Amino acid sequence: MKLGVNIDHVATIRQARGTRYPDIVEAAEACRRGGAHGITIHLREDRRHIQDADVFAVKKWGRLPLNLEMANAEEIVAIALKVKPEEVCLVPEKRRELTTEGGLDVVRDRKLKQTVARLSEAGVRVSLFVDPDPRQLEASLKVGATCVELHTGRYCDTRGTIRKRELRRLAAGAKLAHKLGLQVNAGHGLNLDNLDGLASVPHLDTLNIGHSIVARAVLIGLEPAVREMLRAMKGIQQHAGR
Ligand code: PXP
Repeated sequence: MKLGVNIDHVATIRQARGTRYPDIVEAAEACRRGGAHGITIHLREDRRHIQDADVFAVKKWGRLPLNLEMANAEEIVAIALKVKPEEVCLVPEKRRELTTEGGLDVVRDRKLKQTVARLSEAGVRVSLFVDPDPRQLEASLKVGATCVELHTGRYCDTRGTIRKRELRRLAAGAKLAHKLGLQVNAGHGLNLDNLDGLASVPHLDTLNIGHSIVARAVLIGLEPAVREMLRAMKGIQQHAGR
């Protein structure tokens, strides 16, 4: 299982004061030294953390594959087509949300197919951020995605029987996505305390984790925080016998 580190919140600290530090490429490099397999950044339409220049800078640095999370908005799609990250993960975006809420409605969104095609033709692998709902997974394949990122937010935010049900949905979703030939990633809200549940979710290729790693980095540094998460991921894989 691979780890993509989302470094949006390194930019959040910089934007809070309008400084030039902390440097986003230095953060990407620290993640690489810590063993990360990829860097994820989310260029939001409101530019609340990551800025256009960050996307170009991380791509130019180029020492790890770049996964660009973004809304299906023409202005952002145009930037993605210029930068050509290794992967784009399309996400729903609302202006007033604190962070991404819920997955894409691939079944009903008629604009997705064309964007997936444009990005794919430019050589960018396209992932769709979806809830582990069979209809959304089947629709993801139909619109041409090669990968899905299962939304783990509901699992992370709930407790007890609801959490157990969410975990079962994630496991079933991962099985179906794999059967459909889609690469299965997962992310949102994952941290050292809730990661263990994912031992029951098969076929996971990459976990995209951001906030909890950057928060931990404030106390122990980014490189050790990445190593710590990778150790925890190895632990759950051993537990699952994978
Ligand atoms: N995956 C997607 C699609 C996201 O939108 C986010 C948040 O930007 C993440 C993963 C990372 O979530 P977190 O910061 O909660 O680890």
